[in-house]
Amino acid sequence: MAVDPLYLATAVEAALAAGRIHRQYFRQHPTIQKKGRIDLVTAADVDVEHMFRGLVGDRFPDHVVVGEEAALAAVPTARCRWIIDPLDGTTNFAHGLALFCVSIALQIEGRLEIGVVYDPMGEELFVAERGDGARLNGAPLRVSSCGALVDALLVTGFPYTVREDGRQHVAVFAAFLEEAQAVRRLGSAALDLCYVAAGRFDGYWEERVHPWDTAAGALIVEEAGGRVTGLAGQPFDPFSGHIVASNGPVHDAVLEVIRVAVDERARRAHRG
Ligand code: IPD
Ligand code: CA
Ligand code: CA
Repeated sequence: MAVDPLYLATAVEAALAAGRIHRQYFRQHPTIQKKGRIDLVTAADVDVEHMFRGLVGDRFPDHVVVGEEAALAAVPTARCRWIIDPLDGTTNFAHGLALFCVSIALQIEGRLEIGVVYDPMGEELFVAERGDGARLNGAPLRVSSCGALVDALLVTGFPYTVREDGRQHVAVFAAFLEEAQAVRRLGSAALDLCYVAAGRFDGYWEERVHPWDTAAGALIVEEAGGRVTGLAGQPFDPFSGHIVASNGPVHDAVLEVIRVAVDERARRAHRG
C-alpha cells in the first residue's frame, strides 16, 4: 500500500516544530505539574500536543490523534490514527537532563506505517516508513550484530506505578544484571528503542508502557532490521502495555530471561 507522502512530511514537520518548543522551555524553569505523585507534566508537553492536534486537525480532518496529554475516556478509532508522545522523558526534561524527545507514529487500518522520533538536544531525527527502512538524519540505520546476551548492552524503564509494583520490575532487572554485559535506564522509552535501531543498545524491554511511548520506536527498530514482540514473544501491539525489542539475534535469549523471572515472580506471588 502506497502511503501518502504528505503523512511522513507532516510527521517530520511536527517533530521539528516540537523540538523548537522543547528547546524554548528546556532549563527555563517551565511550569511543572504533577499528574501523580511522581508523574510530571510541563508546559512543553501540553504545548507540543496542542500544536500537533491543530496541525493534524487542519490537514487531515478525518484522522484521529491518540496523545498522552488529552485524557480521553476511550481510544479513538479511524482509518488513520496518529499516536504522539509530545515529550518522552519528561522527568529528565524537568531536571534539566538533555535526554528526551517527541515520538510520533501513524497507524493506518491498525498497522504502524510511519514512525518519527526527534531528540532536539542531540539533534537526532529518527524516521521510518514501513518497507522503506529506518534513517537517522538521513543515513540508513542498522541494528547491532551482537549474538550473545553476555556481550549485550540492554536498556529498560520503570513505570510511574513503580512505588506500588517496583519489586516485580526489579526482579526482571536483577535477572538481566546476571545475564547481560550491562543494563541501562535512560528515562525515555522512545529513545531506548531508537538506540536499539542504531545499534547502540542490543535489546530493550519494558512493562506498563503506553502506545505513545513505543509505537514510533517499534517501527524504527523493525525497519532497522530488528525484532519487536510482546513480553512472551507474541506479535507486538502498541496498546498491549509491554514490549521487547532487540537486534534479532539476542531476542530469544532476552525472552527466556523474562520468562524465567516472570514465572518465579508468579510463584512467589502465589505463595504470598
Ligand atoms: C516515560 C519514559 C520512561 C518510561 C516510562 C514512560 P514520559 O514516559 O518513556 O523511560 O520508563 O514508562 O512513561 O512520562 O517521560 O513521557
Ligand atoms: Ca512517554
Ligand atoms: Ca510524555
